[in-house]
Amino acid sequence: MMIPQEKIDEIRERADIVQIVSEYLPLKKSGRNHIGLCPFHSEKTPSFTVNDEKQIFYCFGCGTGGNAFTFLMKQENLSFPEAVRSIAKRLGIDMPLDTKPSNEENQREIMFLANHVAMDFYHQNLLTSPAAENAQMYLKKRGLKPEIIKDFKIGYAPAGRDGLAKFLRNKGISLELAEKVGLVSTKDKDSYDRFRNRIMFPIMDTRARVIGFGGRSLGSEEPKYLNSPTSPLFKKGDVAYGMYQAKNVASKEGFVLVVEGYFDLLMLHQYGFVNTVATLGTALTINHLRKLKGYTKEIYTLFDSDEAGKAAAIKSLPLFLEEDIHGKVVLIPAGLDPDDLLQKEGAPKMAHYIQKAKPLMDFFLNSLKAKLNIETLHDKVAFLEEAAPYIANIKNIVERDIYIEKIANVLHIGPDIVLSTVRAAKIPLYSKEAEGLKDQQRHHIPTANEILNKVDFSKTEEKILKVLLAYPSLYNDSISRTVEIFNTDFLKEAGRLIIDVLQKGSGKIELSSLIDAAHDEKAKTWLVKNSIHDDVSIKEEPKKILEDCCKKVIMESRLKKETSLLLKKFTDAEKAGDMESFKVLTESYLSKKRG
Ligand code: UTP
Ligand code: MN
Repeated sequence: MMIPQEKIDEIRERADIVQIVSEYLPLKKSGRNHIGLCPFHSEKTPSFTVNDEKQIFYCFGCGTGGNAFTFLMKQENLSFPEAVRSIAKRLGIDMPLDTKPSNEENQREIMFLANHVAMDFYHQNLLTSPAAENAQMYLKKRGLKPEIIKDFKIGYAPAGRDGLAKFLRNKGISLELAEKVGLVSTKDKDSYDRFRNRIMFPIMDTRARVIGFGGRSLGSEEPKYLNSPTSPLFKKGDVAYGMYQAKNVASKEGFVLVVEGYFDLLMLHQYGFVNTVATLGTALTINHLRKLKGYTKEIYTLFDSDEAGKAAAIKSLPLFLEEDIHGKVVLIPAGLDPDDLLQKEGAPKMAHYIQKAKPLMDFFLNSLKAKLNIETLHDKVAFLEEAAPYIANIKNIVERDIYIEKIANVLHIGPDIVLSTVRAAKIPLYSKEAEGLKDQQRHHIPTANEILNKVDFSKTEEKILKVLLAYPSLYNDSISRTVEIFNTDFLKEAGRLIIDVLQKGSGKIELSSLIDAAHDEKAKTWLVKNSIHDDVSIKEEPKKILEDCCKKVIMESRLKKETSLLLKKFTDAEKAGDMESFKVLTESYLSKKRG
């Protein structure tokens, strides 16, 4: 059963977002708001804003926003019902006795439980089963100490076909849910284990809940590592292995090391480098960085020193720039991975390499230089052009200037030339859409169609919603029809939510509950952002602005229809390589839009 809506409403009404946020970060009063350093991205001046009256928060730095529930969901990694319960507990509100967790919440809990039971099963099996002797020997040969095996709850999946399945069934755990998290597979009601005869590494989230596993084969069976499939609990690019064990030390040390492999990670921990996490056979992702940023200012990559490892480090540079976080590269002798290096040469040697870590940007520039012959004019230009977009994406202007100076020195040219190239190269290097794309797709040049489809109708639509938020009494039915022809999906969704509340007729917009009703992330964020931030431009004549904008939306919608006709002509001209008509058409389109 779900938590009854009245309960949720009661809790929301009584929750005090300022107090809840203050448990996690210091807030200072500033005008009508409270501000502080955002917990969701790293910043030096506060842009995290909490509004007491509206009971919402929004960060002008990273765009995260919501109400008290959303805050806890993000901060503590909770589901919605978990966040509701957590606030209820703080407020001393009794949850009705018959409030069992909702089906969905229940299922999540059982999935976590299934993973936890499996972790214990594998771990006990490794420690006590005579059949685990080979596994024990393998781990010994690889140099792992018993303490690490205990700390990381490393285990052994027996070779039989359904040892775990039977164990789970005996514990009364739904095999259907165990299948959802990839522990077993079921065919014709017959369940068998996914992991067999493998060393098992449980993967935990930052709250020590088991979200998945990696399993290494003992011999040469393929694949060498078998990981849990993507599940409601586990998504590979979202988690780093060892985060739970590393997080506290990482924040004390001020940096975190990122390695690629399970054994690399375990060995670093064993040798005392506890501020280490591992990506699991994937490249570093923006989500990894965002998680790590919560704990540390600097991230050092410690990959294999082969070409692939170096390329992986450079490939992550746009992500570091996007997140405005300092990246460094630890270089170790080629041919060894961090695991080998530690066992061959010990901790002091490793500490030495770590201490000599180079800024990722310098590493990139150096390898670029090594690829080219910058004494020639041709390669000077090539260097500049390749480096410029990276420099342009450095967020800190002082740092950007320093690199401009550095490049000028390397190339023996004037800094003003570097500067103008950098200015011209200011395109975002990182985009959400591009992550995971192949390189050649990443540098895709948009077609006319794509450009025109991106034409922004949203400004007018936004104005309408802003007026409604600030002056709900101006609402009338014709506005809801206008919202229905909005061109921008998330604004349409936000508009519908506002209108829904207004039509119910309290004449007041309860923002905090509106947020819970919003399922579209972008709509939600927009609502929060624009309620916390007053747009002064609508203050003068809101009624006139509303009317004008509604007219404009209707006009733009007509324009859009005409445009799609024009588009076909565009595409034809473009296909035929007829750049002259292409230009004429563009002009005609733009003038239409302006008029
Ligand atoms: P490597 O192949 O470099 O192996 O994979 P390794 O970590 O040195 O492993 P050992 O020392 O031979 O045991 C690096 C990481 O890539 C992922 C694993 O996370 C591994 O630790 N990987 C590798 C997979 O997920 N699947 C594979 O089949 C291989
Ligand atoms: Mn290895």
